[in-house]
Amino acid sequence: MRRSAVLGVGSALPKREVTNEELAETVDTTDEWIVERTGIRTRYVAGEGETTASLAIEAARRALDHAGIAATDIDLIVLATATPDQTFPSSATKVQATLGIPDCIAFDVHAVCTGFLYALSVADSMLRSGTAQKALVIGAETFSRILDWEDRATCVLFGDGAGALVLAAEESERGVLATKLHADGRHNDLLFVDGGPSTTGTVGKLRMKGREVFRHAVVNLADVLTEVLDEAGLNAADVDWVVPHQANARILDATARKLGLPSEKVVVTVDRHANTSAASVPLAFDTAVKDGRIKRGDVVVLEAMGGGFTWGAAALRY
Ligand code: UT7
Repeated sequence: MRRSAVLGVGSALPKREVTNEELAETVDTTDEWIVERTGIRTRYVAGEGETTASLAIEAARRALDHAGIAATDIDLIVLATATPDQTFPSSATKVQATLGIPDCIAFDVHAVCTGFLYALSVADSMLRSGTAQKALVIGAETFSRILDWEDRATCVLFGDGAGALVLAAEESERGVLATKLHADGRHNDLLFVDGGPSTTGTVGKLRMKGREVFRHAVVNLADVLTEVLDEAGLNAADVDWVVPHQANARILDATARKLGLPSEKVVVTVDRHANTSAASVPLAFDTAVKDGRIKRGDVVVLEAMGGGFTWGAAALRY
């Protein structure tokens, strides 16, 4: 069967780390509150010269090295982001230019925190249909640039970063087994940015009704994980690793509990990276591959939920 196999993974973080204690010097918050309510201890924040595209390029280079292939072998780049360097052109074309790929398909996908799942699903379809042979699928964000640094309810939750996967079409048992995507635009007002090119003409700041998002997240994520396992013909006991979107440690625990998945199988990086939106799933995936937890042949399920609302999941054999 023609499948999209994962040849390599990579990630990148900005240089500057910002701890909870450091944030508490400028915002009315405490390390205790942030750790207890979210599990976050620290995050990375992009400095001058660091952008969504620059982080994406670093992550892509590492994924190509890990895969052992040249950038010029890539014929498809799908980059998930809600914080592109510019309104246009796409950040994907910046990655293409910097990596020195003379011609390929390159575009951005925008589904906020679910962006990587959307990007993976689109790339998988294009690889399986024969439109492309080798793809870079990237999630990259600089949410620090759209945060209201005076709003303690949101600014403590997010960080910057990027993660990338190299996928290749091959006749194989390994690779992406199933993907499931959803959106429900009736909830646009629970998590949004209050600006944009066609409305205010400004970039805007992130606004969130956290408690309501939390409530929807646990239900939607448990449901979509069940759906994707059904589609892949797997049950919870077949899963070696869950790589979830890293928004809140309590959401990860509640979702795993709902599905009867032991917490030891859940990859958690929210403590170190905070919520990096579309970057969080590939960043966590890379972390668990490089520290030796995720091994070749393991069944891995990925899931995410974010603004829109959008949510989705994927099952793959690494
Ligand atoms: O990536 C997209 C998906 N996003 C998510 O999944 C986020 C989902 N939501 C959450 O993770 C949680 O709802 C939050 C972490 C955002 C908030 O946790 P919570 O337990 O739902 O707290 P809350 O919003 O109900 O606020 C509880 C209290 C409030 O004070 P009062 O009204 O009870 O006096 C807040 O003002 O905590 C206060 N609070 C803070 N206190 C100290 C809110 N933010 C802070 C803060 N430091 N940073």
